[in-house]
Amino acid sequence: MELVLVGLPGSGKSAAGRRFAAHHGVPFVDLDDEIERHAGRPIPVIFDEEGEAGFRARETAAIAALGPTRSEGPLARVIATGGGAVIAPRNRWRLYRGRRVAWLDAPPEVLAQRLRRGAGRPLLAGRDPIGVLRELRASRLRWYAPGMRVNALAGTPGVVEALERIVGTAANDATGGPGVTLLRAETPIGQISLGHGDAAAALLDALGRLEARRAIAVSEPRAWGLHGERLATAIRAGGIPVETILLPRGEAAKRLRVLERAWRELARLRAERGDPIVAIGGGALGDAAGFAAAGWLRGVPLVHVPTTLVAQIDSAIGGKSAVDLPEGKNLVGAFHQPQAVVVDTGLLATLPVRHRRAALGEAAKYAALGDEALFALLEADGAAIARGDGAATESGALAELVERCAWAKVEVVTRDEREQAGRVVLNLGHSVGHGLEAAAGFRGILHGEAVAHGLRAACAVGLALGVTPGDRAERIGRLLDRLGLATRPLALDRGAVRAAMATDKKHQGGTLRWVLPAETGVVVRSDVPGDVVERALDDALTPGAPGAEVAP
Ligand SMILES: NC(=O)c1ccc[n+]([C@@H]2O[C@H](COP(=O)([O-])OP(=O)(O)OC[C@H]3O[C@@H](n4cnc5c(N)ncnc54)[C@H](O)[C@@H]3O)[C@@H](O)[C@H]2O)c1
Repeated sequence: MELVLVGLPGSGKSAAGRRFAAHHGVPFVDLDDEIERHAGRPIPVIFDEEGEAGFRARETAAIAALGPTRSEGPLARVIATGGGAVIAPRNRWRLYRGRRVAWLDAPPEVLAQRLRRGAGRPLLAGRDPIGVLRELRASRLRWYAPGMRVNALAGTPGVVEALERIVGTAANDATGGPGVTLLRAETPIGQISLGHGDAAAALLDALGRLEARRAIAVSEPRAWGLHGERLATAIRAGGIPVETILLPRGEAAKRLRVLERAWRELARLRAERGDPIVAIGGGALGDAAGFAAAGWLRGVPLVHVPTTLVAQIDSAIGGKSAVDLPEGKNLVGAFHQPQAVVVDTGLLATLPVRHRRAALGEAAKYAALGDEALFALLEADGAAIARGDGAATESGALAELVERCAWAKVEVVTRDEREQAGRVVLNLGHSVGHGLEAAAGFRGILHGEAVAHGLRAACAVGLALGVTPGDRAERIGRLLDRLGLATRPLALDRGAVRAAMATDKKHQGGTLRWVLPAETGVVVRSDVPGDVVERALDDALTPGAPGAEVAP
């Protein structure tokens, strides 16, 4: 077993780690020392000469050089990290997998006091240390929190004692064993955990916090067979009884009569206000189960365990639930925030390639919203992720993609939970995308595929309006090419696409709000002329498609 120590500067990782390793007679690695040894210079000088980016690159290299972990057996190595080592998702992927993680935590005021006595810290130089440490703690908390929390107020002897307990217990914490938890956050829209192979442990933890007497798993046959049953077994083994309600697979779950059956089943089970519904499945299942939870007894706790890429990066986060009517999709629903969202990228291993690729249409949208790191990730690894390449999972690229997208959604939704203002940016690519889906009767084209066409259309509109710079539009187009998305026009009825867009416009109070890529980020415009929209549709639709001659 190997132990990794994480936490803010001044929390005592080096001192406690060194003493603990010496006590056990095992090697101790201090990553900051390794970086200095390699560079032949102290860290403040590296910061001066290469900036924070240069230092972070060296830090990533030092983590990669740690080599494989010995996850089994007695304590074999102790590793102390720099406070910011956890920022990069790929660093956490390498550091946390197969290792036990201890998070040394103390109030910023105490840390500031300690650091005043210590050597120069570049991030604190010339600034109010308490303020900086508070900010650092708030922004990094979600990355430290997967570790077992150790009260670092106790000083080195107290911390060493706590580390002894962590190593001594074979407790089933989410950071040991075959799975890894990479992020854990308490947010205004529920607790979010993200990991790989950790769904059972994270779900048990979430149900424990809810003090659940029993859980009602709502799933559909495929997701249940592939993953749900195993998770239910683990929950039962953890001492929580599980009842099961299976809905139909896919969009067929999002019907009022299906919901009525589900509610009657909840009545038969005498489900109470404190019995959480655990939604295990993709976006359609999550939308239906979410609405079931919103409606039953006027709202019961909900835990999402999303099993598709669409659900992990989008639909499970944000609290929107809905069912369809013959008159349109998602017309009846509710905002009902989950208490917890358990994202486990290991569940995606069974996902068909087409679904995986289509979801990257949504990921490309988040990148186009202005996330440069996500853009670069998709350019480098998107094609491999789309193919379901095992190497893209093993390298941590898939987990990084899910984290960046899911967290982007958390941030947007937290700012605008009920779609009053800022959340509209998430509609990038959806003006045309939704029109295409509706014209296809929501059959034969997946949502993310339609969004990819919509993204190209938004670029064409933005170019025509002088909002989207040419190089930005080209970069987005090249990315979609690389992902194999929206590479061919669709043979859809142009009149039907226009009609669906007109309906959306009606629902938005008479103005269709176009989200358009800009120099950085996006702008929202409601004044897009009809001929500009027509030219954008030219690219999305096969020439001569029915309805092409109809005037706008
Ligand atoms: N609420 C929101 O904010 C929001 C956002 C985006 C999309 N959505 C909704 O999400 C739905 C689309 O999402 P989706 O594509 O995930 O839907 P889905 O639930 O229909 O799943 C797609 C298919 O994948 C299968 N599947 C699920 N998990 C699997 C796994 N791990 N391995 C193999 N197969 C698996 C399902 O059985 C299904 O056939 C739409 O109904 C859309 O309206 C909602």
